[in-house]
Amino acid sequence: MDEARRIDDLGGWRRSHRNNELRASDIGSEVCLMGWVQYRRDHGGLIFIDLRDREGLTQIVFDPDIAADAHARAHALRPEYVLAAKGRVRSRPQGMANPNLGTGDVEVEIYDWKLLNTSQTPPFEIEDRVEVGEPMRLKYRYLDLRRPRLAKNFVLRHKAAQSVRRYLDGLDFLEIETPILTKSTPEGARDFLVPSRLNPGEFYALPQSPQLFKQLLMVSGLDRYYQIVKCFRDEDLRADRQPEFTQIDIEMSFADEELVMDMAEGMVRTLFKECLDIDLPAVFPRMPYDEAIRDYGLDKPDVRFGLKLVECSDIFTNSGFKVFARAELVKCLKVEGGESLTRKEIDELTEFVKIYGAQGLAWIKIKENEWQSPIVKFFSEEEKAALAERLALKPGDILFFQAGPADMVNTALGYLRVRMGERMGLIPEGSFAPLWVTDFPLLEWDPEEKRFMAKHHPFTSLKPGQEELLVSDPGKALARAYDLVLNGNEIGGGSIRIHNAEVQLNMLRALGIHEAEAKDKFGFLLEALQFGAPPHGGIAFGLDRLIMLMAGATSIRDVIAFPKTQRGTCLMTESPSDVSSRQLRELHIKLRERPQDKAAAEARPAADTTES
Ligand code: AMO
Ligand code: AMP
Repeated sequence: MDEARRIDDLGGWRRSHRNNELRASDIGSEVCLMGWVQYRRDHGGLIFIDLRDREGLTQIVFDPDIAADAHARAHALRPEYVLAAKGRVRSRPQGMANPNLGTGDVEVEIYDWKLLNTSQTPPFEIEDRVEVGEPMRLKYRYLDLRRPRLAKNFVLRHKAAQSVRRYLDGLDFLEIETPILTKSTPEGARDFLVPSRLNPGEFYALPQSPQLFKQLLMVSGLDRYYQIVKCFRDEDLRADRQPEFTQIDIEMSFADEELVMDMAEGMVRTLFKECLDIDLPAVFPRMPYDEAIRDYGLDKPDVRFGLKLVECSDIFTNSGFKVFARAELVKCLKVEGGESLTRKEIDELTEFVKIYGAQGLAWIKIKENEWQSPIVKFFSEEEKAALAERLALKPGDILFFQAGPADMVNTALGYLRVRMGERMGLIPEGSFAPLWVTDFPLLEWDPEEKRFMAKHHPFTSLKPGQEELLVSDPGKALARAYDLVLNGNEIGGGSIRIHNAEVQLNMLRALGIHEAEAKDKFGFLLEALQFGAPPHGGIAFGLDRLIMLMAGATSIRDVIAFPKTQRGTCLMTESPSDVSSRQLRELHIKLRERPQDKAAAEARPAADTTES
């Protein structure tokens, strides 16, 4: 090997400081730094290197007048070479300080150094400012994680996990692990299955959450449980969803809603204070589900800005515009100043709402002397007057309408509201608005399955006194459930549980799960509830989402060390992957389609993107 690139042994050298640490007060000290070469600059005989580690950068200088040999060898240094360097801290010359860098007042003049490793030229620069496609970043994730912007998310994530553990420990919660190879639990997603070699034809399911186990721990009398735990859900992925994600999972005995919500609020407040030095409100506001849907269209309202939705169905009951007259629900979103949107922007918004099942997007621009719109010609003068009054219209406004089934109208306009909030710059930067959403319906009608499903999960209690409703008008029954929403993201959800076997069985019956099926799926829980189960309840937080918001990231992939793409693949390890025939035989599995038959599947248009 090239002499200049001979790899040295660590030789007992020890790091004295991290690369974010040195300050003017260290001038004159002898230090030993280790890390990666970020940049090399040669200037009038001097060689400058920015040395990087997880924590930051320090400028080191090779000066032929100080150490001729150390300087001569430094010509071989290239980006991402790994080195250990000993030297003396000195002040940067007049006018050369870098105010953007914590260590920007100083540099280290090197008198001896070791080359600990060389590096190939990386496929992208390890630099926050470099824009790299996500597939490339995920393939070389270990290099991506070297970038300071990403690395700092994991420092934050670690701090947050420590803070959570301290907080819960202080309230006598025990950290207890639960199985990963287990039985299907109904959180409403598809299960990941694991074939059992020892039990031909049988499968474990990976837990969608530890829901049933944590309830069983309450029956055990362990009283208070928590776990920072991986959960697995085989669902379609988005920017805020991964097939495996982490929950802060919590359960407590002898608890009602107030107790759980107080504990949870305290945890989130502590987290923000300890990790970000941000004071969240002393009491988190609460909003009933109905109000959230009515005003914001979504059960996770972003309350950092207004733009509430306004119902207009009654105005159009007899309208000549049949799309509106016939619709179950007509709602309007008024955006002040939105009159300046271009046709192209409106077309993009129309495509956007189609994601949520909308057929189109009706709009009206309120001009000084006229209403500009493809639909006003269908409106009567009374309809226009009623609209103007209800929405307090002014020139400069734009109105967006959605008409159709209530769910679609609310969802489409709800997301459009968020998008317009961003577009119009209505969201104050760096602000955090936590909100409890309460009074959820217990059940939700599933039009495909033509039956009621649990809105949260089937172990959630009904509000006291509503047992009759569950029989007479199940859709109206309310749950003792609560979700915590932060800036329009659902970061946590939980409930007070059913702790009586008979009530639980009735609930399962209401969901169309009959006794035999109930016993087969949840027999162990039903049985346990007969052995003195205490009243209990809990909550689970999505840790990834929480950290994403705390870090100011826009995707949970930026706070997960090794995330998956939208097609659930890992581009670095290339999983999932083919297995040998022998492995399959051992698992008693015969494939209907071999991976080599996948050529056709591969050619399918859906590219393996990470877009959301
Ligand atoms: P839930 O299903 O609401 O409740 O999940 C709790 C929280 O987990 C987060 N989350 C996710 N994060 C990333 N990717 C996903 N695919 C994903 N799915 C959910 C969300 C959510 O609020 N056992 C119940 C909790 C309980 O009742 O105590 C449960 O799992 O932030
Ligand atoms: P049309 O008469 O079908 O051309 O529709 C007139 C306008 O109403 C167009 O701008 C459509 O995008 C919009 N539109 C169509 N259906 C709906 C609907 N269900 N809700 C809201 N707007 C709609």
